[in-house]
Formats: sequence, structure tokens, C-alpha cells
Amino acid sequence: MSDLEQIAVSTSEKVLLFFEGLNLHFAAAFILHAIELIYIILSKFRFGATTDQVKVDRLVLEYKTRQESLGNVRKVAIVTGANSGIGFETTKALVRAGFHVVMACRNRIFAGQAMEKLEQQTDLNNFEFMELDLASIKSVKSFTENFKAKFNRLDVLVNNAGVMACPYQETEDGIEAQFGVNYVGHFVLTNELLEVMQSTAEGSRIVNVSSIAHRVGIYETARILDKNLYNRVINYGISKLAFIMFTVELANRLGKDSKITVNALHPGVVDTNLPRYIPFSDSAFFKFIFSICSVSPVTGALNSIRLSLSSEVEGITGKYFEHECVSVPNAPARDKKLCSDLWGFTEAMVKGK
Ligand SMILES: NC(=O)c1ccc[n+]([C@@H]2O[C@H](COP(=O)([O-])OP(=O)(O)OC[C@H]3O[C@@H](n4cnc5c(N)ncnc54)[C@H](OP(=O)(O)O)[C@@H]3O)[C@@H](O)[C@H]2O)c1
Repeated sequence: MSDLEQIAVSTSEKVLLFFEGLNLHFAAAFILHAIELIYIILSKFRFGATTDQVKVDRLVLEYKTRQESLGNVRKVAIVTGANSGIGFETTKALVRAGFHVVMACRNRIFAGQAMEKLEQQTDLNNFEFMELDLASIKSVKSFTENFKAKFNRLDVLVNNAGVMACPYQETEDGIEAQFGVNYVGHFVLTNELLEVMQSTAEGSRIVNVSSIAHRVGIYETARILDKNLYNRVINYGISKLAFIMFTVELANRLGKDSKITVNALHPGVVDTNLPRYIPFSDSAFFKFIFSICSVSPVTGALNSIRLSLSSEVEGITGKYFEHECVSVPNAPARDKKLCSDLWGFTEAMVKGK
């Protein structure tokens, strides 16, 4: 972890707690986003520092060496949204680390293109595609049935797929789409896979890709249910806040002695397809500005790869990571009662579907 990362995270925490104390949540969110932007721009000038690709290579090598000394069982991972951006780079690292990776994607053509690219870039073929549309609980359940029919272990589950700032849409089950895809789909997916993870002797890791944008999420169920209160940015924040609250509650339910760990993370502001719904995101000007204010998909995937592979995070559970450090999420994710309430609210939402 670099000094820059430590300074960014500890400054963020101080700002957050100060403004929360004054009940100024939006001011906190605004300043934290500004700190993130300054961090990204400064991080581009880390001359001589270890590049993030080298960090990924080290994590992969360290993991492979550890596995070889333990005897080579072929481990299995699932990455949702594996065909693009952060998910693609995470998949590549897990494939290189020796996992058999199930690429859980909604689009067969995009998945096929990603698999071709993966094979070209790694010269390996220990991956496969299985269809998963997180906007449909039926599709999530059919995915988990297919997975369990084929595999009897799951070592790493990276809940990565997501959409951001789309116009109001609903999933097949009538749930607001950002909440439905980013959080509820992964809630069902994870719960359906818990049993197979529990029976994986070496223990399993769940990695939930959240966002610093959870800091603009206002935890009010009305905002999830009422179309008239929909705001593209705030509702993205709510979906990512819910994902951290789910992480905290799941860790709590599994208990300290569980062989399964679950953590959430912010990947950084990353140059991917995510801003596709932002007006003018196709323009050359937007692309230029975004490229200055964002990091590469390899850097964006570093946190997911570290939480999936590193021995340094062994046994850590229920935490939220920003950059490579444990960070303090916004207040609702620190409130055990709210996290437990959200679990009940979500169960009711998906019941019978
Ligand atoms: N990029 C950033 O700055 C940033 C910052 C904070 C957090 N994140 C989070 O990082 C994660 C990865 O995003 P990214 O930046 O790599 O963006 P991306 O390139 O757009 O990748 C998103 C992935 O999610 C998939 N996806 C979307 N809806 C889906 C659905 N209904 N079912 C299954 N898969 C679906 C997409 O599939 P298609 O290709 O078929 O659309 C794509 O594979 C997201 O959760 C995002 O919220 C990103």
C-alpha cells in the first residue's frame, strides 16, 4: 500500500466523520469525491513507483506459489460482468492464478469476444461462459442451477457487474434497475451459492464491487420503491450503499468462525464502459476529460484481485476497502440494525420470484 493511498483513505475518513457529525452528508460526499479526483491525478505522476500491472503479477505469482505448496486442486471462481472493464481484468488475473473461471455475463456475443481476447492475452483456456442476467431473478436462479450441476466447489465469487446512472428502468421483476442489477441480483446469486461455498473445504471469498458513490446514497426505502423520487445519481449511490450494507449483514450472519469471508470495495474511478448512460459520454471531449480523471481497468481491478487472492486479507470479513486500505463506509453501513432491516426488506422483495 503506498503512502498516497494511506493519506487518501485516512483524510477521507476524517472528512466523512467530521461532516457526518454536522449532519452534512452531501458536503461529505462532495469533498470525498474531490479527494478521490486529486488522488487519481496525483497517482498518475508516481514516477518510479511499482506499476499496478506489476502489483497484479506479484499477487498472481504469490498465489500460485502458495497453491503449489498446498497441492494443486483446481479452484473455481465466478466473476459477474466478466466481459468488460474491471471484470475482464479480474477474470484475467484469476485465470492466470490457475482458477477455472466462470464468466457470468448477460450477452453471449460480448462474452465470446472477451473469451477470444482472454485466450490471446494469456494463452490459457481455463475459463467458460455461463449466461447470467442480473435483471432477472429467474435468470439468476437458472445460472446457479447450471453452476451447481457442473461444479461442487466455489472458491471465489466476484460480484462485479453493474450499471450506472441509467434513465428510470425496471428489472423483469419490477425492481428499479440500478438497485435490481447492482444489489438485488447479487443478493439472490450469493444466497443461492452459499451452500456450495460452505461445502468448499478450503474456504471461500466473496468480493462485492461497490463504489465511493455509495456516499451519495440516501438510505430511504421510499427512494427505492417510488419512481417519482428517482434520481440517476442518488439511486446509483443507494444501490452501492445497499451492497455494502449487505456485505456487513452477510458477514454478521455467517459469523466470525465461518470459512467464507465477504468484503466490499471501491475500485477507483476507472476508464470503462460504465458511464455509457451519461449524456455526451460518447463525445471526444468527455472521453478526453474522463481519461485524465480515471485510472486504467488494470488499476481498477487491483482491489478485487487482492481481495480474491492475497494472503494479507485472509480472515478479514465484513469490511469496505478503498484503494488498498480498509475504509469507513457511510453511516447506514455502520448501523447493524439498518443492515439487518435491509436484508428483510430484500427478502420480501424477491419472495416467490
Ligand atoms: N468504472 C468506474 O469508475 C467504477 C467506479 C466505482 C465502481 N464501479 C463498479 O465496478 C463494476 C464494474 O464496472 P466497470 O467499470 O468495469 O463497467 P463496465 O465496463 O460497463 O462493466 C460492467 C459489466 O456489468 C455487466 N452488466 C450490466 N448489467 C448486467 C446485467 N443485468 N446482468 C449481468 N451483467 C450485467 C456488463 O455487461 P454488458 O457488457 O453486457 O453491458 C459489463 O460486463 C460495476 O459494479 C461498477 O458499478 C466502477
